[in-house]
Amino acid sequence: MIFKATAEAPSNLAFVKYWGKRDNGLRLPTNNSISVNLSDASTITSVEFDPDLKEDKLTIRNNTKPIEPEFSKRVFKHIDRIRNLSGYTHRANIQTRNTFPSGVGIASSASGFAALTVAACAALELKLSTKELSELARLGSGSACRSIPDGFTEWIACDEEQRSYAIELASPSHWDIQIITVIVSNQTKQISSTIGHDLAKTSPFFQTRISAMPVRLETLRSALLEREFQIFGRQTELEAISFHTIAMTSPMQTASGWNSGIYYWLPESLEIMLAVQNWRSGGLEVYFTLDAGPTVHLLCLRNAVPQVLAAIHEIESRQIERKWDILINSPAKGARVIKTEGNL
Ligand code: PMV
Repeated sequence: MIFKATAEAPSNLAFVKYWGKRDNGLRLPTNNSISVNLSDASTITSVEFDPDLKEDKLTIRNNTKPIEPEFSKRVFKHIDRIRNLSGYTHRANIQTRNTFPSGVGIASSASGFAALTVAACAALELKLSTKELSELARLGSGSACRSIPDGFTEWIACDEEQRSYAIELASPSHWDIQIITVIVSNQTKQISSTIGHDLAKTSPFFQTRISAMPVRLETLRSALLEREFQIFGRQTELEAISFHTIAMTSPMQTASGWNSGIYYWLPESLEIMLAVQNWRSGGLEVYFTLDAGPTVHLLCLRNAVPQVLAAIHEIESRQIERKWDILINSPAKGARVIKTEGNL
């Protein structure tokens, strides 16, 4: 008998970032984080449990590089978790594809593990609540828990029952903000977010960031719920710089030598960040945020999109033959099953 399901999950962009864990194995974060699901950056995954398979199999469809053994191991470990919940022992054939490049600052692990969780659970007919799916996805990749509920979400670091999962703060239609994602490089980042999380506590500024977190969360959450774009944009931008400050002041020893910190930005990222400051002083209301990669996400209201795009193209054209990939994202629904076949 063959059990199969296909799920689609969005990547998400954090306005308040998850950076640093209080438990590595369980992927429990130090602080709550707030994000939005992205309409134009998702992962589509099908999982088929097949009695004829001798071992789990992973295929990444539009991948240009070979799959790293560490990554396959992480995926199979996640499938084991789900299999153990169901009691079934069949091996899984996993096929997945991203609609965007991975490792460039768009959280492909978020959409990937959210889609994997939902597809595998559906294939095994596990009836889990959104909260349970979010907790399960979190064990695969922390930020994946935020790709399970719809729209704008908050990841609760730890509730009264010591549980950690994301909840929907507002539906995708709550606020039509636009996220213009400028992919300035397709190179995979040098230092993974897993390493970055581990090193965060070594920054002398980490405790300062954590102490300021309750106010940041409250201010940003209410600006989001009240649709106060200026407060929201300013807090998002301040928060991105706070997160990168921690990364840049987390020293590390690598195989090739010692570094004083992790720099996820490229010169082009900074070029755009400085340009945003200029555009704002010229009256264009736009803010930036960056995750663990050089990709710059620009936030604006829908009516500002044409102006923001024209402004980006203007800086892009300052260097001959420079071509950036640009995605225009709206708030989106969370992970969902898009097809089932051969279920029990
Ligand atoms: O879930 P991870 O390990 O890929 O960490 C995500 C970290 C950031 O993208 C930098 C911040 C966030 O909250 O998404």
